[in-house]
Amino acid sequence: MYDLELVGASIKLLRDMFGLQKGESVVITCDTESNYDVVDATAQAAYALEGKPIIVKTPAARGVGKAADPDLPVKELIGLLSAADIWIEYNNEWIFYSTVFDEAFRKNKNLRYTNLVGANPDLIMRNIGRVDIPLLREFILKVEDISKKAKHIRITTPAGTDVEFDNDPNRAFYTADGYIRKGEIKMMPGQISWTPLFKTINGTIVIDGTLTPPLGKVNDPIRLTIKNDKVVDVTGGQDAKVFKTWLESFKDDRMFYLAHLSYGFGPGAKLTGDIVEDERVWGSTEWGFGNIGPMLVPDIPGGIPASSHSDGICLNSTVYLDGELLLKEGQIVGPTEEIVALARKLGK
Ligand SMILES: [Fe+2]
Repeated sequence: MYDLELVGASIKLLRDMFGLQKGESVVITCDTESNYDVVDATAQAAYALEGKPIIVKTPAARGVGKAADPDLPVKELIGLLSAADIWIEYNNEWIFYSTVFDEAFRKNKNLRYTNLVGANPDLIMRNIGRVDIPLLREFILKVEDISKKAKHIRITTPAGTDVEFDNDPNRAFYTADGYIRKGEIKMMPGQISWTPLFKTINGTIVIDGTLTPPLGKVNDPIRLTIKNDKVVDVTGGQDAKVFKTWLESFKDDRMFYLAHLSYGFGPGAKLTGDIVEDERVWGSTEWGFGNIGPMLVPDIPGGIPASSHSDGICLNSTVYLDGELLLKEGQIVGPTEEIVALARKLGK
């Protein structure tokens, strides 16, 4: 499917997002559950752009991240990735955050990486192939800037979210702006994530999109009461029970704490139950629970460890930055005319 268009999307990915230079190596990792149309198209594009593509296919690991370690040829993959210029990950059972990942980045400070785990042709076309990446970048960096400057943020949704918090003026934002420079680890374009000032998040979060793990697309909204960053109550239907039981199963108090907030700004993203795309649904907000990665809190070496991490999506968000509207029920309405105009140019 999309055999012609996928090569075009891959050229965009390599030439425009990675800035692939002649002679650079492009390692494409995948496993036996990956979609090979996207793998082959990326390798073809790398070759056409005078790069050096290398496809590495391994058996699908029986777990993801560090849980994939026992099934992976760990030292061989580290050896290859330590010498690579570009790494594109299409593994379905992902290597992201595994020992291979940690060691490759420890040894190779110039490695450029993007996470496209489990990607299929539709997803690549919706989120890269048919997106004006430079325009999205311009929009997203302006939204990042204005959100960073806000001292106090309030978010509501039609499903009942009403949560507020203060920003930490010294905290970095982690923005998937579509460009991957030396040493950078980037997710698919269309997302801005950050960790607000601890102990200031209070209110109600209602997850009505996707909650992964332990669920996918939720059947009935999950209502979380938040006091000083902590989930103190989980109510709703069967899905709420599953989430509460999952959080409790770790016997780790840190699992009840919020880890980050994210905005979804993927112009083509749609809710499919796959968190990688769902968390980019335009105008959604997402809360992370549990483990906080070091890139979100560079001020805290090593981040804040917890037993696991989950992400939950609130659709059609309304966002107030110091009282001024950025989003109204999922639509960009401010706070500057420039931001509104860029959103309209992106077709939103
Ligand atoms: Fe997360």
